[in-house]
Formats: sequence, C-alpha cells, structure tokens
Amino acid sequence: MKRIPEPFRIKMVEPIRVTTEEDRRKALVEAGYNPFLLRSEDVYIDLLTDSGTGAMSDRQWAGLMMGDESYAGSRNFFNVESRVKEMFGYEHTIPTHQGRGAEQVLFPCLINKAKSDNPVFISNYHFDTTAAHVELNGARAINTLTPEALDTTSYYDWKGNFNLEELEQTITRHGADNVAGVIITVTCNSSGGQPISMANIKAASEIARKNNIPVVIDSARFCENAWFIKRREQGYENKSIKEIIFEMYSHGDMLTMSAKKDPMVNIGGLLCIRDDKELFQACQTRCVPMEGFVTYGGLAGRDMEALAIGLEEGTDEEFLSYRIGQVEYLGERLREGGVPIQYPTGGHAVFVDAKLMLPHIPGHQFPAHTLANELYLESGVRGVEIGSLLLGRDPATGEQKPSSLELLRLTIPRRVYTNDHMDYIADSLIAVYNRRDEIKGLEFEYEPPVLRHFTARLKPVA
Ligand code: F0G
Repeated sequence: MKRIPEPFRIKMVEPIRVTTEEDRRKALVEAGYNPFLLRSEDVYIDLLTDSGTGAMSDRQWAGLMMGDESYAGSRNFFNVESRVKEMFGYEHTIPTHQGRGAEQVLFPCLINKAKSDNPVFISNYHFDTTAAHVELNGARAINTLTPEALDTTSYYDWKGNFNLEELEQTITRHGADNVAGVIITVTCNSSGGQPISMANIKAASEIARKNNIPVVIDSARFCENAWFIKRREQGYENKSIKEIIFEMYSHGDMLTMSAKKDPMVNIGGLLCIRDDKELFQACQTRCVPMEGFVTYGGLAGRDMEALAIGLEEGTDEEFLSYRIGQVEYLGERLREGGVPIQYPTGGHAVFVDAKLMLPHIPGHQFPAHTLANELYLESGVRGVEIGSLLLGRDPATGEQKPSSLELLRLTIPRRVYTNDHMDYIADSLIAVYNRRDEIKGLEFEYEPPVLRHFTARLKPVA
C-alpha cells in the first residue's frame, strides 16, 4: 500500500527512550503486568489513546499566547462560540474540561426533561464514560449497533451504523416517553473507530424525532467520520468536509464533544445546543458548580483559543487523508503479516482481534491484555485492551461477563508518530504473531472491585 507522506514538517522534537527487552521486563513486572501502570518514560511508542495526545500546530501554540484569562466573557470563548455556529449551526455553546464534563452537565438535564421513572438512552454504542454518566444518573444505556460490526473479518463500509430496526423496537419496548435521548457516536469508537453513514445518521434521527426524542451527537471524531462519508457514500464525493459536517449536525439537536481528539487539543470539551433555550439554561446552571463559570467551563482562555483553531484544522481534507491513511497503512501491514484485525480499519486506531490470534487463551485469562503485554515486551509499544478485563464481572452473579470481542487497540495520536514508526509497530506485532502459540494468559494478583483495568495487578498463569 502506498504511504501518504506527512503534510507537515517538524519544528520541535521530543526525544523518546529506546529500551532493552530486559528494561521492559523489569518495568512490566513492577507494573503488575498492567501497561496502564507503566511510567510513560518506559514506553517507546505510546498507543494507549488518541485523546489529548496529539501535537498542536504552530498556529495553535501561537493561539495560546492570545489567551484572555478573564473569569467571565473571555474573547476566546466567543471565538469558540462563533466557530461552533458556523461549523455546526448550533446557537448555544458551553465549554467543558473534556468530553465527560459535557456528559455530566447534559445527561441529568435530559433525564429531568424526560420526566420518566425508567429513563433510558439508546446509542449505536455508548463510549465507557458516556454509559457511566447515563448509569450514574439512574438511567440505562442501551446499544443498538449494526451486527456487521461484530464480525471483524468481513468488510463492511459502515460498522458504526445503528441497527435501525432494533432502534425502533427498543423505543417501542421502553416507550418513547422513557427515552431521554438517542446518542449518535461519530465515529463509533467501541466498534473500532468505525464510521456511520449519512443515510444512517439521518434515518436514526428521523426515528428519534418522530418520537419527540432529543438527538445528541457524541462528537469526538466528527471530522474522521465526515471524511469516510466523502470517500464511501454516494453523492458526497464532491462535497467539502465542512459541508458534510454541517449536514451531519443538521440531524442532531445537541452535541457533546471530547475536543482532545479531532480538534487536537491536549485538554478541552464542548456541549452545544441547537436552539432549546430552556435546556441550555438548565445546562448552564449545572455547569457552574460542576465545571466552572459558563464562559470557561474548566478551561483556561488559552485552551479555548487552541480549541477554536483546532476545530478548523481538524477539517483539513489533506490532513485527514494522511491521518486515516496512516492508520490504514498500519492495518494493511498487519494483515499482510497474518495478524487478524477489525477490517476495514477505522479512523483512529487499529483493533487487533486477540480472540482469533490467541484462540488458546480463554476470556478469563485476558487474551487481548496478554497481547498488549507481549507487544510491550517485544518492542516498547503500548496498546490497550478492550475486552474481558475492561468489561468486568456481572454485579449480580460475580461471574466474569462474556465479551463478544477481545481487542487490542493500537490508537494512533495525531501528528505525533511518523510512517516509519508504523513500520516498527507492524514488524514488532508480526514478530509476536509468529510466536503466538507459546504465549500464556494472565490471572489476577490484585483485582479492584470496579474499573479494574486501570489498577489491576496480574501475573502469568502457572
Ligand atoms: N465519547 C467518545 C466516543 C470517546 O471516545 C471519549 C473518550 C469520550 C466520549 C469521553 O471524552 O475522554 O474527553 O472525557 N475517549 C478516550 C479514548 C478516552 O481513549 O478512546 P473525554
């Protein structure tokens, strides 16, 4: 596959440490076989997340110097607000410290608005924190993802789509009055950074709207989703990324955004509402004690300026072609080497199918987490498990919940690593693949009661 050269040149560098296998083994034992507990200094290439790990541009760094640190009415807030109006067509903007800040402000307000005793949210797939905020507020999070997403081996353009029939049935089953919101996650992180088509966004939104259910767009990777629509969906090939984004958001009533992804800031988020003034006022009221005053929401003025610039930069089509091309290149290299991945690759990460790669390791011995450890030992590359360890136990029975997928996510930060780094990652994982039969699973040495993947300590099975 042809590599697309970086559409930027490097003005400042951050050295990273090359380690020996002995160094890495020692570090991993100290970290309890949990890469989350490694010091980042012991990591050569860090693919834990694409969130807040991007490199800002010279324009964004210059924007930091233009910070207006007034407590109220900072000019940088108004720059963000006018960019939001222009890009999404939404009247009201509340900055937040990151995506989950927007979730903690919005969801209780939506639940109040629904006035239901059994509120639910329905999504193509709730991200972990999104589901957590839904549940912390006493509602249930239901996913209605298209079934094609679960078969990693077969090609499908839109593995982020809703199963529309299931969406309608779920609304009927719970009663439209109990559905506090339909959340459209673009791209769908949990299924592999997979896009949702414009047709599916429109159809899901029509189903919600005819039932008077508000439509929330969870917007972490909205530019990448728009790029996929341009490349894959008929009728969009000649539209600009910005036109596509505007159309996507015409199907929503509000958005929550982790600005740490596509807008390439190290911290920041947004909650924006089209025109529901009452809801906006309720959210502003909640924002003050939770995030901060309504024109800064947990951000410094300089952070908001970098965000205003990043919103624009993220839509650059040349950049997106390179960005998504880099992820695809890594995916293709791995496929050539025999490594099973979620196919096609999504926007922000390659998801390796550890269930297929290590079929001899059962779910309760954490095949994808084991693979993360092996890749680290081999190369100093840190990926992250999305599988049984993350999923946890059923609170009722105490049994490990069965996970339909066991994935190792290799998440690519934006504008940080070069294509040569991609080759190094691919060569290393292929080397692990070639000795896959010798790899043994892991068991707990310490199992935290909740959110155990962050702090668990493990050891190789006897
Ligand atoms: N929604 C989606 C789709 C996300 O991927 C994330 C974060 C959030 C909401 C929450 O945003 O982190 O700014 O509070 N995803 C990161 C990840 C953490 O690694 O995928 P946040």
